[in-house]
Amino acid sequence: ATVSVLGAPTQSGTYRRGCLMGPAALRTAGIVEMLGELGHQVAEDRDIIPDIVGIDDGPYAPAHHVGEMAGWTRAIRRAVADALGAGRVPILMGGDHSIAAGSLAALTDVAPGSHILWLDAHPDFNTLTTTTTGNLHGTPVALAAGLDGADVIYGAPITPIDPRRVTMIGIRSVDPDERALLRAHGVTVHDMRDVDEYGMGALVRQTLKRVAAEGARLHVSLDVDFLDPDIAPAVGTTVPGGATVREAHLVMELLHESGLVGSLDLVELNPFLDERGRTAHLMVDLAASLFGRTIMDRPTQAW
Ligand code: ARG
Ligand code: MN
Ligand code: MN
Repeated sequence: ATVSVLGAPTQSGTYRRGCLMGPAALRTAGIVEMLGELGHQVAEDRDIIPDIVGIDDGPYAPAHHVGEMAGWTRAIRRAVADALGAGRVPILMGGDHSIAAGSLAALTDVAPGSHILWLDAHPDFNTLTTTTTGNLHGTPVALAAGLDGADVIYGAPITPIDPRRVTMIGIRSVDPDERALLRAHGVTVHDMRDVDEYGMGALVRQTLKRVAAEGARLHVSLDVDFLDPDIAPAVGTTVPGGATVREAHLVMELLHESGLVGSLDLVELNPFLDERGRTAHLMVDLAASLFGRTIMDRPTQAW
C-alpha cells in the first residue's frame, strides 16, 4: 500500500503530560523503516500543524483544552481526508486519543458507511456534557457520532459515524453515563469478559465477516491501554487485565489477512512512562503485523 505517516503530537486531551512525544518515539522505534521493509511506499511522513481556535473552556467545565482539541481535530480531519482521498492508507500517530475525532470525521468525509474497530480499555464515548474527568481523550467516538459537543469541536458540519458500525474490543473501564450512551446508540462492545469467554480470534473474525458482508472499509484505532500494562507500561491510563502480546498480534494478523483496513490510529503512547522503548517497539511490531509481517511466510492454516 501507499501510506501516509502523520504525527499528531497532542496531550491536551489528557491530564498527564508526555504523550506528545509519541510520534517521535514511534519513529525512533522504526515505524517508517518497518513499512518499507514490508514493501509499502511511504508517500509522506510529517507532523500535522493544528489550527488556532480560541474557545473559552468556561461553559464546558470540567472539559479542558476545548479550543486546543478543536484546532487539532480540524487540521487532522483535513490531513487524513487528503490522504484517504489520494488512495493512501493514513497512519495517524498520537498524541492522546482525542485526535481520533479528526480521523473518524475524515473517514466519513471520504467513505461514509465505513466500520470502526476500537481497540481500547475505554470506549471514549463521553460527550462534552457527560465527561466527569474533563479529559477530552474520553470523547472522540461520541463526538464523531455527532453527540453533544460535536458542533463546538468541529466548527463545521460532519457526516456522523454510525455507532452501529462501531465495534469495540478490550473494554474494561466504562463510566456510568457512558455505558447508557453506548447502549442507546447500539455500539457493539466486546468487553474483556467476551474476550475471556469466546477468544480474541473469534471476536475479530465475526467483526470482519460483518464488514466484508457490507463491502465496507475498516478504520482501526489502537490505544496503548488495549494492551496489558505489564507488557505496555507507557500509557497514562493503565487498566489491569488487558490484551496479551499474542492476542494483540492475532488481531493485527487477522486484520491484515482481511484486506479490509484502510486507515489506522496509534494513540496514547507516552514515552515518558516507557521502559527503554519497549512499548514503542511493541506498538511498531503490532503495526507490522497489521501491515503484513508474519512469523512464517503465509497465514497459519487451521488444518
Ligand atoms: N472514561 C474516562 C474519561 O472520560 C477515561 C478515558 C480514557 N481515554 C483514553 N483515551 N485513555 O476520562
Ligand atoms: Mn482511548
Ligand atoms: Mn484507553
